[in-house]
Amino acid sequence: MKASSAKQKIEQLAQELHLHNHKYYVLNAPEISDKQFDLLLKELEVLEKEYPEYALENSPTKRVGGDITEKFKTIAHKTPMLSLSNSYSFEEIDAFYKRAIKILGREDISLCGELKYDGVAISVHYKNGSLNYAVTRGDGTKGEDVTLNVRTIKSIPLVLQGKDYPDEFEVRGEIFLPHSEFDRINKERANNEEQLYANPRNTASGTLKLLDSTVVAHRNLDCFLYSYYGPSIADNQFTCIQKLKTWGFKTPPVTDKFLSQIETPEQLAQFVAYWQKNRTSLPFDTDGLVFKVNQFSYQEELGYTAKSPRWAIAYKFETERVSSILKEVTYQVGRTGAITPVANLEPVLLGGTTVKRASLHNQDQIEKLDLFIGDEVYVEKGGEIIPKIVGVNLDSRTAEQQLKVIFISHCPDCNTELVRTEGEAQHYCPNAEECPTQVKGRLEHFISKKALNIEGIGPETIDELFKLELVKNPADLYTLSYDQLINIERFAEKSVQNLLDGLEKSKQTEFAKVLYGLGIRYVGETVAKKLAKSAKSIDQILSYSIDDLVAIPEIGGRIAESVYSYFQNPLNIKLIERLSAIGFKLFVAENDSVRQENKLLIGKSLVISGTFTKVSRDDLKKVIEALGGNVKSGVSKNVDILVAGENMGPSKLEKAKALEVTILSEDEFFTEFKMGIDNYFKE
Ligand code: IVH
Repeated sequence: MKASSAKQKIEQLAQELHLHNHKYYVLNAPEISDKQFDLLLKELEVLEKEYPEYALENSPTKRVGGDITEKFKTIAHKTPMLSLSNSYSFEEIDAFYKRAIKILGREDISLCGELKYDGVAISVHYKNGSLNYAVTRGDGTKGEDVTLNVRTIKSIPLVLQGKDYPDEFEVRGEIFLPHSEFDRINKERANNEEQLYANPRNTASGTLKLLDSTVVAHRNLDCFLYSYYGPSIADNQFTCIQKLKTWGFKTPPVTDKFLSQIETPEQLAQFVAYWQKNRTSLPFDTDGLVFKVNQFSYQEELGYTAKSPRWAIAYKFETERVSSILKEVTYQVGRTGAITPVANLEPVLLGGTTVKRASLHNQDQIEKLDLFIGDEVYVEKGGEIIPKIVGVNLDSRTAEQQLKVIFISHCPDCNTELVRTEGEAQHYCPNAEECPTQVKGRLEHFISKKALNIEGIGPETIDELFKLELVKNPADLYTLSYDQLINIERFAEKSVQNLLDGLEKSKQTEFAKVLYGLGIRYVGETVAKKLAKSAKSIDQILSYSIDDLVAIPEIGGRIAESVYSYFQNPLNIKLIERLSAIGFKLFVAENDSVRQENKLLIGKSLVISGTFTKVSRDDLKKVIEALGGNVKSGVSKNVDILVAGENMGPSKLEKAKALEVTILSEDEFFTEFKMGIDNYFKE
């Protein structure tokens, strides 16, 4: 491709992707499939790599992160970021409304009612229609420059839609983590036996302050924008929000429920009542409502106190809190030895479900709460799935309650003295080799779906095999014989064969999954993939120092130390040797000669048709398959790309057009996928 057409193509692709991004993440109305979007993005990535001089600063490819900040710069706010005064009853909001009417001496004052999003405040600056920089609230007068991280948030436009926006302006809003994302992250952490995040707000705020923007991009933060600072674009908040929406911002939806223009006390009461009842059905956290005097001229007249505007007030929801009795505290042991205390309660109804257990997190929290068995405790459920104890009713404590909750000093399973790693709040049982729960936990992890995915075996079988002293570590599974298994109760001929077949098949598992299956503390699926991709073999990993490990992108000191110490243990080395002798490929397999990043067509279906001048059809097919694509014989709606050679049948072409399949000529195909193809032939 000529440089000038590459520049043009880069600009066109960027524009197209910004538009589709907006349709998907802001309007919730995608027009193309995820596959098609990824293909366009890949196309742009390839071109930007080849012609970096034409890559745009706010390119859609920037959303995947990649840049690492050493330290955030401090930036002063042009207008201070204030807070809102709080109220806790309808009477207080009503009084606020009446006071505004009185001070202004007019009756025509409307309020704009909004939700109070529970996240982190952000200020985003735009210049000539493009995101310029983004700053956290900080102390209200200055905050931190988190532009790189904010760029990864897909609902924040990098480039604006429309044309009638001012050259320079600022929008403010709230970055938050939707419940589904919070749950996904915590599930992953539970799987890795990492301490769970307490709530979506803290997770969002912690994420925004991460120095590695790739990690931020994986967290899928979201953002509502609700304030504008710049040359006048509207007379009131209600229309201002609608204007912001036309430029591509995700604003509170303009329905009388989300963004309500309130003109009477009755409407005010209705709005409050509706959300008090329905707020828990939202897919994100809110901690109340915000009422703003709608007209900007009146806002100006009312002005500010030192801390907050006189034209707005927050109404805080009551968090549903119930009391229950603490019956006992039990301790769970995880597969990496992590100890989790759990409060067992008298069953109590909270937020529509019966609660019997509550999380106590760790020793520090137990001590802070100063718990005694038999205490009346207060339980709340926020965004988190597991309810938590937020306090104790000391008035109801009696002299008979002698049993103070003291965090255990020894493992409830194997009685080994627990250790607490420096700088962490979590306790561990160090008896990794013998502690039954840990031994079984590791085996269960090894066979699990995301690891070796061994068919024909589950936790009950593991339990049974462990009791019979047939297995203690993953390599032992491969020594099991037909005769040993058939003697186990409830194991019929067929299930024995299933298990043996499952084990045999598992030997083909790719290296990253085996690495994950070892159950090294803090090595979840993503970390295992990074490690495998970077080191390429177990031998390489074994040779790494902590510094070598930290040098791998996304691997921090804590993970590096854990990986390093795992491979210092002779028992683990023995396990690796046995797995290798069994036939596991503890390296990135040879037939993966085109590395993953060159597999630009992974998951894509292609059809080739007509005759080609550069390559034979057979070779073209091989190239496509080497890049991870599937070659199909006929055009259908499941086909992503048609590579159209010369003299291809017109009906196939028509059908592809009708189904909006991407059509590439031979030359176009080789240009689009040049990088992957070059690397393929290089290897
Ligand atoms: S307007 C002068 N509107 O609440 C402050 N804030 O306590 C004007 N918040 O810092 C802010 N939802 O982080 C406004 N619909 C909403 C909001 C909202 C959440 C947060 C924001 C602000 C804090 C003030």
